[in-house]
Amino acid sequence: MSADRKLYEGKAKILYSTEDSEILLTHFKDDATAFNAQKRGSIVGKGEINCAVSAHLFRMLEAKGIPTHFIDTPAPNQMRVCRVHILPLEVVVRNIAAGSLCKQTGLALGTIVNPPLVEFYYKNDDLGDPLLTRDRLLLMQLATPEQVDQLEIAAREINEILKEFFSQCGITLVDFKLEFGIDQHQNLILADEISPDTCRLWDNAEADPDARVMDKDRFRRDLGSVETAYQQVLQRVLAQKV
Ligand code: TYD
Repeated sequence: MSADRKLYEGKAKILYSTEDSEILLTHFKDDATAFNAQKRGSIVGKGEINCAVSAHLFRMLEAKGIPTHFIDTPAPNQMRVCRVHILPLEVVVRNIAAGSLCKQTGLALGTIVNPPLVEFYYKNDDLGDPLLTRDRLLLMQLATPEQVDQLEIAAREINEILKEFFSQCGITLVDFKLEFGIDQHQNLILADEISPDTCRLWDNAEADPDARVMDKDRFRRDLGSVETAYQQVLQRVLAQKV
């Protein structure tokens, strides 16, 4: 695989161009950051795990009619993806209150969020990824009104599919973040990754609020056993055939 030119290096991934101008290569890193990169570290094997989890989930979502940028995985920590124009938005879906939702609203950790909440955050490190309202998003021309509607519908549909999938793995999907791109035909395409870095996942077999955590909160909150938890997620995800 010729990975000829580094286009962009982010906190968890590096993006390369390939000889085909419509195809990019993503390299998943072991580096971990939290709290807008104020906390830094490394999770052994994370790159390969997140790549494999994302690949499996993208294949599963594709099979259920959700268009994604995923093509294949030429190496365990590499994913070939279709080139899309990434919208500078983080679309967060919440089924259970945790993280910033609890901090900003006072809702107790674990409060059921029904119907699920779909939120938009502006991907901008300098501004600290602020929460946007629909009107602010439109004011900033980050998407068209039609795209905002499409994003919300897609996020809810993906949530229903992922919730069901993780439930079969014995895992509760608490919340997660999605990123979308626009392809050359103006189609909305699911992009980026879906992994223990970008989801909150709770083990249904564990009642203890710390022991049940299988995602990046183990790193954020120094709960230990981060690698083991990520490997558990991978094993359970791969055990579900697509
Ligand atoms: P949220 O509770 O808003 O933020 P924090 O992780 O700082 O408490 O996160 C909601 C979900 O979205 C959670 O599963 C982590 C994911 N997420 C990301 O993957 N990247 C991000 O930049 C943000 C803001 C959230």
